[in-house]
Amino acid sequence: MSAVIISGKAISDEIRNGIAEEVRLLYEARRRDPAFVPPGLAVIQVGADPASSIYVNNKKKACEQVGFMSFGYSLEEDTTMEELLDLIDTLNRDPRVHGILCQLPLPKHLDEFAVICAITPEKDVDGFHPVNKGLLSIGRECLVSCTPLGCLALLKSLQIPIAGKQCVVVGRSNIVGKPVAQLMLGENATVTMAHSRTTDLPAVCKNADILIAAIGKPGFITADYVKPGAIVIDVGINRCEDNKIRGDVDFASVVEVASAVTPVPGGVGPMTITMLLKNTLTAYKKITEGS
Ligand code: GUN
Repeated sequence: MSAVIISGKAISDEIRNGIAEEVRLLYEARRRDPAFVPPGLAVIQVGADPASSIYVNNKKKACEQVGFMSFGYSLEEDTTMEELLDLIDTLNRDPRVHGILCQLPLPKHLDEFAVICAITPEKDVDGFHPVNKGLLSIGRECLVSCTPLGCLALLKSLQIPIAGKQCVVVGRSNIVGKPVAQLMLGENATVTMAHSRTTDLPAVCKNADILIAAIGKPGFITADYVKPGAIVIDVGINRCEDNKIRGDVDFASVVEVASAVTPVPGGVGPMTITMLLKNTLTAYKKITEGS
């Protein structure tokens, strides 16, 4: 048996085309209105980490492709907390800005949690603010982190049944593991959160109808962890010594056991920026239309 390879790229393109069309209709409907403000995303980068620069540029490019305004802020490595909080405060009040993203990780002297908390929850398109995290945990409408949202959008777009299924999430990070588990619970899956301290991890994973790997260890999930016919979602983006990007899943062996699997690259990755666009549009509608 060989699994279906889930093309995150194709699904992501389809969703982005839908967002671009929605924005085109907005421009069309409001072109005579001098007060019209299109959706806008502000992206802050502190320092010049090369990997962060690539991510930030991709985010800005994706915004422009769907007709959003993008506002880039490239701050010096030695920016102070006060300067960064001042900028966030300005952006919180800027009516052209509907989403604010501060690229992580930040230089060591800056307090990441304080920065996340300073972004108004209504513009928190990363879904990292404790208010949004709290709303997600009680199943209320909120802005949800982009990678977990991308995993769910992949499953939904392929019409993979979730309710009643055994879903095992491996990894318990605040950015992926915890929110993706909460989203799957919201879809009525039976969710198990596993991690590096889980006893007999292969046996726990082998229970999964849907296995979501967000561990950060290249090739960790081999065929021995996968129930025949399971759906496997690989969230890992690991840059290896040969400079290639590899997922958390050992694709070559898992593809022989699973019924569907996401590749790396080209699986969850493209969905993450697409969900950032979706979150920005959601924030825009809520701010401008109150809906
Ligand atoms: N660094 C790596 N991934 C992300 C992300 O999704 N959001 C932000 N703000 N920083 C990141």
